[in-house]
Amino acid sequence: MKETRQLARYLAGLGYGSRKEMEAAIRAGRITGEGEAMRFDGEPLDPPPGMILLMHKPAGFTCSRADQGRLVYELLPPRFLKRDPALSSIGRLDADTTGLLLFTDDGKPLHKLISPKSSIEKTYEATLARPLEGHEADLFASGELVLRGEDKPLLPARLEVTGERTARLTLTEGRYHQVRRMFAAAGNHVEALHRAAFGPLTLGDLSQGDWRLLSQDEVAALD
Ligand code: URA
Repeated sequence: MKETRQLARYLAGLGYGSRKEMEAAIRAGRITGEGEAMRFDGEPLDPPPGMILLMHKPAGFTCSRADQGRLVYELLPPRFLKRDPALSSIGRLDADTTGLLLFTDDGKPLHKLISPKSSIEKTYEATLARPLEGHEADLFASGELVLRGEDKPLLPARLEVTGERTARLTLTEGRYHQVRRMFAAAGNHVEALHRAAFGPLTLGDLSQGDWRLLSQDEVAALD
């Protein structure tokens, strides 16, 4: 009985249903196997708490859990939204920004990776409204650029020009609309923005809207 209650609580925490529903599911024999081989209705069980997911975010989805419009959470199985501990994105991308977005239900990596003290590099590919002028890389690398409405200068960031109106920008901070505001400070305007890398992680061949679980090695590499 105690085991049934414990398992029901665990399954409810994964979002499969209420504890009561899970007790009924266990009694009905819908759970088979044990440990990592456990299955629900013949399907492998969702990952245990402590997972990190990597998504290729499409444009037009917001990272909020409760905004109007389309939410990045809609791209995950609905059950994931009912998990306890709750799943949330590690930082945010603007609705118009595409690219690499992480999610976790684990407070430790969440706080560590979004902390202002985190020095993990994020790499963005920007398409600009106007041709680059040549002064931008020095400005961004200076450690002296102060964004409008702020008084603390940005930490140095690395700019690689990849075309007349395209550039790759690598930075360690995550201030509000940072990349768009940096190019605005340089007299330009970001037309399209894509996050290509987060620390050692890249999107690989993951299509827009798709996601996958990080492996143990990938999680360790974020530390
Ligand atoms: N900087 C921005 O301006 N937008 C993003 O989505 C991410 C970084």
